[in-house]
Amino acid sequence: MLRRTAVVASHHAVRMAGSSRPVDYRTQNQQAWNQLADSNSLFARVATDEECRKPMQTLDGRGWLPDSVAGLNVLCLASGGGWQSILYAAAGANVTVVDLSESMLRLDTREARRRSFQVQTVQASMDDLSMFANESFDIVHQPVSTCYVPDLKPVYAGIARVLRSHGLYISQHKQPVSLQISHRNERQQFVIGVEYYHEGPLPLQQDTSYRESGATEYLHRLDQIVGDLCLSGFVIEDLREPKRADYQVDVSHFGYRGRFVPPYVRMKARRVERTADNSGTDASTTSRIWTPGSPLRS
Ligand SMILES: C[S@@+](CC[C@H](N)C(=O)[O-])C[C@H]1O[C@@H](n2cnc3c(N)ncnc32)[C@H](O)[C@@H]1O
Repeated sequence: MLRRTAVVASHHAVRMAGSSRPVDYRTQNQQAWNQLADSNSLFARVATDEECRKPMQTLDGRGWLPDSVAGLNVLCLASGGGWQSILYAAAGANVTVVDLSESMLRLDTREARRRSFQVQTVQASMDDLSMFANESFDIVHQPVSTCYVPDLKPVYAGIARVLRSHGLYISQHKQPVSLQISHRNERQQFVIGVEYYHEGPLPLQQDTSYRESGATEYLHRLDQIVGDLCLSGFVIEDLREPKRADYQVDVSHFGYRGRFVPPYVRMKARRVERTADNSGTDASTTSRIWTPGSPLRS
């Protein structure tokens, strides 16, 4: 039986760079992703029967997950679409999937019903996980999606709170340099037209590879993606750049662009142990971890 928890996302407005017009990133991205899901986008691809027969191999080509996830509480974050949730359920985990888009979540519900799996769906924004109790998950798995929120800190703080000590946080993010590319010149070279320190929603670009149509996206720098994660109570155990270079395709293909710029970074991070004076992301966690920019401690 499926349980559905409907959570109405409170809509946070941000301002477009150089404009007084507020942009409601949640509403815009909810609509954009509803549209992608309703038009059978490649990004809304559900798990196949073959993938469900070997769910751990499909989910975990790098061996980052424990040998078995059976009985573990897994939060598939910003992960609607019926792929991750269904594979974790096929592997015996207790799955909760959070997503902003009801159309993406409908795919999780449909696929779970079809396969007689239990998957709890929650419609909410990744930067407000207040509906979950502290330390209620063993694993949080987040596919590429942090580009849809303006600030990573509340996302990381929420994950640090809901993960148990030593819990795993597996995530993939868009690399900032990929989001800086605006267009190609006449020699098919990639032009960096967006500043590294750009604040606010990214402008629309001519080169739309690795961007989703209609979505409002934000560039997060590496010190935010990696450094802020460390400061939020995690240690990073591995970091990879999935290779998207394709040497067989013509210049217009995104695989050609992947030869020059890595689109994604993927991280395996572990929640550090809470101590009596450290319930989450406070100084006693961070004081044991040095990151670039922090003062050196003896
Ligand atoms: C790349 S898709 C992930 C889905 C897919 N299962 C996959 O394998 O890649 C990114 C997801 O992020 C969701 N999303 C966008 N903004 C969000 C937000 N603020 N909070 C939660 N989910 C969000 C979208 O609705 C979409 O389902």
